Amino acid sequence: MAKILVADGMDRNAAKELTNMGHELVIEHLDVPELKKELGDYDVIIVRSATKIRKEVIDAVAGSNLKLIIRAGVGLDNIDVSYAREKGIAVENTPKASSASVAELTIAHMFSLARFLYISNVTMRDGMWYKKAYKGIELSGKTLGLIGFGRIAVEVAKRASVLGMKVIYTDIIAKDGYDEFSCVSKEELIKTSDFISLHIPFIKEVGPVLSENEFNMMKDGVYIVNCARGGVVDEEALIKALDSGKVAGAAIDVFEEEPTKNKKLFTHEKVSLTPHIGASTKEAQARIGLEIIDKVKEYF
Ligand code: MLT
Repeated sequence: MAKILVADGMDRNAAKELTNMGHELVIEHLDVPELKKELGDYDVIIVRSATKIRKEVIDAVAGSNLKLIIRAGVGLDNIDVSYAREKGIAVENTPKASSASVAELTIAHMFSLARFLYISNVTMRDGMWYKKAYKGIELSGKTLGLIGFGRIAVEVAKRASVLGMKVIYTDIIAKDGYDEFSCVSKEELIKTSDFISLHIPFIKEVGPVLSENEFNMMKDGVYIVNCARGGVVDEEALIKALDSGKVAGAAIDVFEEEPTKNKKLFTHEKVSLTPHIGASTKEAQARIGLEIIDKVKEYF
């Protein structure tokens, strides 16, 4: 049976099930120096986004007991995947489990921006009654541009479409079976969307997908939503575009650094914020838990 380190927490029922299956679970977050010392005693590590498994950790545990890294989530950007595999350590993720939850958060942020929910919750607590300042917009009739059209974006598209939005997307390839949504170039999407939402991984070699150049091409008063990955939107360029009024509002769940220290961004009056909670629902975590059990069963 396997000794499993659960480094960033996991669904309680799934943890119980793994224990019932005879595995030994240790639920504890370890920082890099401790990971380098202790991870070699485990067969499996389960992480979310907080624990980074980089080359230095992999080097420290290569040839030890560690056989499997499971990312409880979609993005593998906190793990040096090919390096781990080169060293004989398998890497798995749970790509399907959280799509609906992330899509719902994306739509929630769009409503939050359109109707000033994020800021009126703050000003009313301060005793203000800014009725006149919060003249919003309807989502219905607006164009939503999705950058990336994987599982999560498709769920966003379906929900936005029911709300009366026109949905366009850009991806490396047009996706079959979604004729109601048009595949356009990134440039067309940037120039014509009222809302732009990103659903792509962060790739270091590519860098931000929305920077000053892209903001300059956008419609005045565009809204930006990032529930994908920190780094895909250049935070400094975004702040500039918010200050100039080019961008009317931005909703951010993920940051270049987490927890974010970008005070200008997290105190900005046009920004709707959440602390990387796209997959943080009871349902998504339960489904992730089931996928983890399957991965452990398959491996052992
Ligand atoms: C994901 O990649 O699925 C999420 O970022 C997971 C998380 O919330 O840590």
